[in-house]
Amino acid sequence: MVGPAQIGTDRSEVTNASVVRWLPQALSAIRFLVDPRSCTFLTLQLMPKRILITGVCGFVGSTLAQTIPEHLSGCEIIGIDNLSRSGSASNVSELSARGVRFIHADVRVPGDLQSLPTCDWVIDAAAHPSVLAGVSAQCSPRQVVDNNLIGTTHLLEQCRHWRAGFTLLSSSRVYSIPPLASLPVLETNNAFGLESGFELTGLTERGIGEEFSTTAPVSLYGATKLASEAIALEYGYAFDIPVFVNRCGILAGGTQFGRADQGIFSFWLRSWRARAPLRFNGFGGRGLQVRDCLHPKDLARLVVNQINAPTNNDRPPIINVSGGLTSARSLAQVSQWCSNRWGDHQVESDDNTRPFDLPWVVLDSTAAKRHWDWSPTMTTEEIFDEIAAHAEQHPDWLDQSNLY
Ligand SMILES: NC(=O)c1ccc[n+]([C@@H]2O[C@H](COP(=O)([O-])OP(=O)(O)OC[C@H]3O[C@@H](n4cnc5c(N)ncnc54)[C@H](O)[C@@H]3O)[C@@H](O)[C@H]2O)c1
Repeated sequence: MVGPAQIGTDRSEVTNASVVRWLPQALSAIRFLVDPRSCTFLTLQLMPKRILITGVCGFVGSTLAQTIPEHLSGCEIIGIDNLSRSGSASNVSELSARGVRFIHADVRVPGDLQSLPTCDWVIDAAAHPSVLAGVSAQCSPRQVVDNNLIGTTHLLEQCRHWRAGFTLLSSSRVYSIPPLASLPVLETNNAFGLESGFELTGLTERGIGEEFSTTAPVSLYGATKLASEAIALEYGYAFDIPVFVNRCGILAGGTQFGRADQGIFSFWLRSWRARAPLRFNGFGGRGLQVRDCLHPKDLARLVVNQINAPTNNDRPPIINVSGGLTSARSLAQVSQWCSNRWGDHQVESDDNTRPFDLPWVVLDSTAAKRHWDWSPTMTTEEIFDEIAAHAEQHPDWLDQSNLY
């Protein structure tokens, strides 16, 4: 196992630079604390934050690392990654150039984490992020549990030790497969839509809510996320550390690696442009399955709100985070978008519905709106434009990134 080896800036330089950057804020926070007119201790949010992002060279981790400082001035980002994701090494230099301190480390190795500098908050973005994790050739069930669940537990131990807050990037895949697989859907506008008048706990016309069943089977990936959620909440409760669980729908954007099981929209657009083979699988083989879509830059704003929240806040610790119904598109609709931009491409068809295929997955993120005044700002078309522009500038992206 490779131990932590710093790439980029020297540790003492960073520490000195950070002290200089944080000093004015720290002084103003101390002034506020000793000011007799201030009768609150919620001023901690004025203090500088050192944030650890795991999986920092991945799609979501790297986007958060670059976006969070735009919303949380004075913060220092430390990122760790074991670079197991094909293509992730290409993000190291850009992150270092933006002031992110990169350390090669593995969340499965407690010693790697114990040698990190003390952090105020940990964002866990190092999971194997695919519903096929553990059942495909790329990774065994043991590996997915080690990575996604044991790795999270190691991070929570660090949070306990550091008294740090914790953000888990969970997934729509924690929701039960059988009821989702049998949702009554109708074809409208080249896409599945939910049949009206249908009643199921946690399901409304806005989408799947947090109360929807999480009963197994949810996939090995979903189960590691669900178990991580439970352990994280227990750590929060037992050791009085802030814990937030964001159940994300599909995250998409320009720099996403091009694997179908990780990011279907990025994979589809890039493959279409490269005239690589594409296939509609299951549900009649016409690409009517629907997914929502969110850019992780929008997720970053929510994570910052959570980091800044007073510790005595009474918001729900688990929320759905998604682009919601307006962002949702079927593969057939995405294909039409691709055709308009790049011309026609033949898509094969296979009527066989595979075990983890679902017809309609749209998360309802009303709770995020209600409790955090959060809603996405980037439209699906803007996200597709970003992916398309990146694909045009990096025609070899699929080759470098679609192998694990
Ligand atoms: N991509 C999505 O649509 C989506 C949706 C919901 C939730 N999530 C969650 O967001 C997180 C990030 O997903 P992503 O799409 O950026 O995935 P990604 O594969 O692009 O990034 C994951 C990063 O983690 C690193 N990594 C893997 N194992 C590691 C380990 N043991 N130690 C250290 N680093 C390790 C990889 O090298 C990679 O750079 C995951 O937790 C995932 O479950 C993603």
